[in-house]
Amino acid sequence: MGLLGNIFGSKKDTLQSNAQGQGPLYSWLGTDMHNHVLPGIDDGSQDVETSLEFLRRYHRLGFRQVIASPHIRYPQFENNREKIKAAFEALENAPGRKEIPVKLVYSAEYYLDEHFLELLNNDQLLPFGDNYLLTELSLGHRSFLDMDQLINKFFEKGLRPILAHPERYLYWNKMPDMFEKLKSRGWLLQVNLMSLLGYYGKPEQKMANHLLDEDLVDFIGTDAHKLKHFDIIAGIDDKLLQKLKSKYLVNNLITV
Ligand SMILES: [Fe+2]
Repeated sequence: MGLLGNIFGSKKDTLQSNAQGQGPLYSWLGTDMHNHVLPGIDDGSQDVETSLEFLRRYHRLGFRQVIASPHIRYPQFENNREKIKAAFEALENAPGRKEIPVKLVYSAEYYLDEHFLELLNNDQLLPFGDNYLLTELSLGHRSFLDMDQLINKFFEKGLRPILAHPERYLYWNKMPDMFEKLKSRGWLLQVNLMSLLGYYGKPEQKMANHLLDEDLVDFIGTDAHKLKHFDIIAGIDDKLLQKLKSKYLVNNLITV
């Protein structure tokens, strides 16, 4: 196997892994930067045992780095840097954790609202990698925030904002130029793997594919909340896998 084969895994390996429904399907991606692996602080994993199983599943799928991104969304998920750090440490210090060769770090998924603006103004955020910050909007209604004004605030603080799962904001479906506009202003876009696999529904799948085809996607994330989500992402077909591999994705470049 040549150097590239060593780094990215051979096609034969991928096909074999796929046929078995497990194996290093995602070793070419390496990093998952969107998930709810930390125990007991949002609507993801509820206890340390489940979080350990998340990490084992990541390892089996070929991921080497996991950036935990619990929700910070008041009043539903009243998380802050201290709570997130405590959940991270509980997982890192759990018996059995050292046997799972996956590097874990923590950041957050920030809901864009007044509370977020306060955190931004007071420099109380938790960026990851090269100052990336994962953010999300309401799935049900348009934000009152002006995305153009907001990005200037990010840049003033030296942050690189990522918008999580743009394909799930169905109120933008009739505004197809929205995504180009966001990208041209400097927003990075992160599509959910499970959107591409049709888990949330047809409109999300169609939009996720559109974004991918138009080369508007910067990151791919699992957004895993439950163990069953790993079964879903393990079921990716080879056509989609090859398409994803052919795209430029920032995940590969993150060092944590
Ligand atoms: Fe999420």
